[in-house]
Amino acid sequence: MNLIKRKTGNDLRADLKHLTVSYNDNGPEDAGVIIFIHGFPLNKSMWNKQVEAFKDTCRVIAYDIRGHGDSDEGKEDFSIELFVNDLIAFMDALEITKAALCGLSMGGYIALNAVENYPERFDALILCDTQCTEDSIEAKEKRLATIESIKKDGVEKYADASLKKLFAPISFAGKKVEVAAVREMIINTSEKTLSNTLLALAGRKESCSKLSEIKIPVLILVGKEDQITPPEVSRMMNNEIPDAELYILEHAGHLSNMESPFEFNKQVKIFITVNKLI
Ligand code: MLT
Repeated sequence: MNLIKRKTGNDLRADLKHLTVSYNDNGPEDAGVIIFIHGFPLNKSMWNKQVEAFKDTCRVIAYDIRGHGDSDEGKEDFSIELFVNDLIAFMDALEITKAALCGLSMGGYIALNAVENYPERFDALILCDTQCTEDSIEAKEKRLATIESIKKDGVEKYADASLKKLFAPISFAGKKVEVAAVREMIINTSEKTLSNTLLALAGRKESCSKLSEIKIPVLILVGKEDQITPPEVSRMMNNEIPDAELYILEHAGHLSNMESPFEFNKQVKIFITVNKLI
């Protein structure tokens, strides 16, 4: 591991032994740390409004998962476990012993797995538009079919189909900038990363059976119109996790932090204040 001295700002590069990770690191040195983990197939810029809102009070870090954004792809086959190893190596490189994690969808799968396997490294968890189940057989087959259709029809067609599921209908009128930004994120993701990550998502293990063992405070946020990980799933996680609270965001689909940033940030602010994370 290469220990690095703290740099602040955006688009920084952390050279881990096996991988270079692109990240933003803003906020006071001695403040509580929140690490934001993006969804698939997006990148750290999906958290810009959260970084802006919290950087005066917290140390806010948003990084690109391998292959996404500006992080290297590396040589290994992707898996949620590999992404968790990257996260821990990244925290070690930045000399962060403990942090709060905020993960959306795939970012939530990574956060849940990280808290399960490295409980001593985390003091709070924010799960956004995510779930704890593994893929059904049908969902796995759909992922394989998606890999084939990306090969055949290209990334732009995939991006346009994805947008319809990622955003609530109302966002196509009111959140045009966000919709365009997400389209860019998707079309700028390489085909190799898209297929490797789809295989990782299809192969992920469930974490529902471990929810009752989570000992840290958890905030669960979900868009009321999330079609990918609907509110019922969040209600179930809320019932299983001992110290959890759930907030359902109006006028938001799967990308609730981008579609309803004001309400999203308000709930995060209450959570981190009540739990003395700042
Ligand atoms: C995501 O937003 O990260 C994906 O929708 C996750 C998934 O497809 O399971």
